[in-house]
Amino acid sequence: MILIDGKKTSTEIQEKLARETAEFSNSVGKPPHLAAILVGNSGPSETYVAAKMETCRKVGFKSSLIRFETDIKEEELLLEIDRLNADPDLHGFIVQLPLPNHISVEKVIERIDPRKDVDGFHPLNMGKMAKNQPSFASATPWGIMRLIEAYGIETAGKHVVILGRSQIVGLPLALLLSRNSNPGNATVTICHSRTQNLTEITRQADILIAAIGIPEFVKAEMVKPGAIVIDVGINRIPDESKKSGFRLIGDVDFQQVSPLCSAITPVPGGVGPMTIAALMENTLMAARQQSGLS
Ligand code: GUN
Repeated sequence: MILIDGKKTSTEIQEKLARETAEFSNSVGKPPHLAAILVGNSGPSETYVAAKMETCRKVGFKSSLIRFETDIKEEELLLEIDRLNADPDLHGFIVQLPLPNHISVEKVIERIDPRKDVDGFHPLNMGKMAKNQPSFASATPWGIMRLIEAYGIETAGKHVVILGRSQIVGLPLALLLSRNSNPGNATVTICHSRTQNLTEITRQADILIAAIGIPEFVKAEMVKPGAIVIDVGINRIPDESKKSGFRLIGDVDFQQVSPLCSAITPVPGGVGPMTIAALMENTLMAARQQSGLS
């Protein structure tokens, strides 16, 4: 069984990005600049955004963290997005999700200038990705594609089963894996909460991807022996033995499933670090485009 090391692959991508960023900054006279908007202070979002800002520092980007209280009005957030869209010093920005219920995620995403939408969530970027045109692909799916590529995992003609149809993981990942490219050319099945005979379907998967946000949902009997399993879940479970008071587990029951697989991603250290590497790649691409370098 191969343990797919997302942390190592992400570090390699970051090292390459750091060299390319130094070249960019030398020729343009300023570094790529990524901003993140964080509404409220939920633990997981704080952690993710802090990791994104720290990676900016490592690769040589400028970063800005813009914080708002949970009760910010939707209109105020939209005006901040207008401000960031118009800021010539800023190449890309993200609005960390989830947002409080009184704010429309769709309105927020659609307000972002697609040229600065380095999360790849804007309908224009999603549409371009579906049509296999150059675009910002959303960070988690793109990170998974980079991981598949780095490990030389064959996807052409394989049956990929994705658990979860979210706009930010399952749906875009299905598009990327089924398109005519390498990695790609897979036969993709998306399963969701209404899927019947789930185990029958998951047992057909050559590559099983779990992105449903239910801790240890995937059990041994759901996996075909020899399958490759990619676990996108990052679930916090209370654990008094940890200083933080919690530990992270995936959507896959790792203990049960890992002995069956030919390869599997761990949690943490699998898909998570790749999401951040992909976001950095998108940001450098945005900076180059806005500086007339590509
Ligand atoms: N929340 C969970 N994943 C993501 C992501 O990739 N981008 C943003 N903006 N929010 C998220």
